[in-house]
Amino acid sequence: MIQLHDKQFVPFISAKEIEFALTKMVAQIEDDFADETPVFVGVLNGAFMVVSDFMKLYKKPCEVSFIKMASYEGISSTNEVKQLIGLNQDLTGRTVVIIEDIVDTGNTLVELKQLFKQQNVKHFKIATLFFKPEAYTKDIKIDYIGIRIPNKFIVGYGLDYNGLGRNLPEVYKLKE
Ligand code: IMP
Ligand code: MG
Repeated sequence: MIQLHDKQFVPFISAKEIEFALTKMVAQIEDDFADETPVFVGVLNGAFMVVSDFMKLYKKPCEVSFIKMASYEGISSTNEVKQLIGLNQDLTGRTVVIIEDIVDTGNTLVELKQLFKQQNVKHFKIATLFFKPEAYTKDIKIDYIGIRIPNKFIVGYGLDYNGLGRNLPEVYKLKE
């Protein structure tokens, strides 16, 4: 068990399970875009670790870029998402694959879709390592999903509770 600020968390998803899920996602995306050079767009801060491991597994030509949004305060999603750092790259005609650490309500995805609508990309795909189907309220298709989890608050592998826990190599969930 670990303690972050005032809360306790228990082990939930191992580093091995994460690696297995990532390997599967990478294989699918390599297959789907064999003849292209996709641009992977990581959503900071949470996705820094998944993007890093994802890129190391991806063996075909690819590029990477990052965007920064924010919606979480504490352990529940505020319903407002704002873009903090934007893309400064021309993505016209490119295949863009968004890489998310986790999709919860889907508010961030709505915002991202909006942002990329003006970019004239060739393909716009969404990949997420973790997905909470019970919390998802949108109808945007998520193209690649690593691991589906119940509607529980998790930390580790890039995900934080008020700034802490991002450095954990495996995932923990809030103790009930
Ligand atoms: P959404 O906009 O509600 O889909 O939330 C997306 C963002 O909220 C994610 O990219 C995370 O940064 C954060 N988030 C959602 N669920 C969790 C969680 O269980 N733990 C930590 N952060 C989370
Ligand atoms: Mg995020």
